[in-house]
Amino acid sequence: MLKVAIMKALRPDARGLARAAAVIKRGGLAAFPTETVYGLGASAFDPAAAAGIFEAKGRPHFDPLIVHISGLRQLRSVAAEVPPAAALLARRFWPGPLTLVLKKRTSVPDIITSGLPTVAVRMPAHPVAVRLIKLTGPLAAPSANRFGALSPTTAEHVLRQLGPRGVIVIDGGPARHGIESTIVSFDRGRPVILRRGALPDAEIAAACGLRKVRLARPGARVRAPGQFRTHYAPSVPLKLIKPGAAAAPRGAAYLAFRRRPEGEFRRVEVLSQSGDLREAAANLFSALHRLEMSGAKVIYAERVPARGLGLGILDRLRRAAAR
Ligand code: TXA
Ligand code: MG
Repeated sequence: MLKVAIMKALRPDARGLARAAAVIKRGGLAAFPTETVYGLGASAFDPAAAAGIFEAKGRPHFDPLIVHISGLRQLRSVAAEVPPAAALLARRFWPGPLTLVLKKRTSVPDIITSGLPTVAVRMPAHPVAVRLIKLTGPLAAPSANRFGALSPTTAEHVLRQLGPRGVIVIDGGPARHGIESTIVSFDRGRPVILRRGALPDAEIAAACGLRKVRLARPGARVRAPGQFRTHYAPSVPLKLIKPGAAAAPRGAAYLAFRRRPEGEFRRVEVLSQSGDLREAAANLFSALHRLEMSGAKVIYAERVPARGLGLGILDRLRRAAAR
């Protein structure tokens, strides 16, 4: 308990960055802000450090990690091949909330890719992430949460989950997007979405000159690992409902999309009063963290509209409900 209380986030200044970089260069872990969610970083070329990530997160399987880069030169140090559609998407959306699954170089240890012949790569846009990666080189980083728990969108979320394990974190403020990156792989040169996320499907399709981009279904030929149904679960049960609180009992915690519900709830969070899906995504995990801590025994969450970023939000709510 005391340890939690005295853990403090590092400031995103030269000193804080140097300290985090030094820990990573020694084979340790440091959590850092990105524009999607906070990441738990280790050197992408150090298998023992990567093992430390799995241990700190309590990930039961070796589930492949995303490698974060700060420039295109680093892409060549991890990816062996970049198909034309991937190059196009990288030019259009990097730095940003897009992860590309590419054929890997042998320099990337198997523990990072779970033995897959491919590596997931992303160039984040958050200035603190970029500065850190410039100091350390490519960083393997999953979301900085305990396995199965809510993704962290603030430094405080990270400290609550991983502080007791001695993980340090650079505080870069709340994550702008609030949900993870969209993951795209390539099947004979064509894009396939493995995980919906902060970059909407339609933008990827438009950039590729396609009407629609294929979505990999779990169990499909293109492996979509890490897609455990319960991946984004709060520690109390969550029920997904139609907007309007008719179904929710008194004393529950309530996640509304736009309108504050009538009724007596333990705690209510509204994702976006104006119905803006961008704002809703940015608030999603913070709102769930607060509802989880409210002491309520159950969370009722309203479905959001199934379009644009709403699809990424629904994906995470469904997983939270499936625990
Ligand atoms: O926004 C994000 O993507 C955040 C920030 C920190 O960058 N990271 C993140 O990492 O969400 P994580 O570990 O929570 O999710 C990574 C996902 C997993 O579902 C993993 O299975 C998938 O990426 N992945 C990694 N390598 C892959 C590969 N070679 N092929 C297919 N999927 C892969
Ligand atoms: Mg995660």
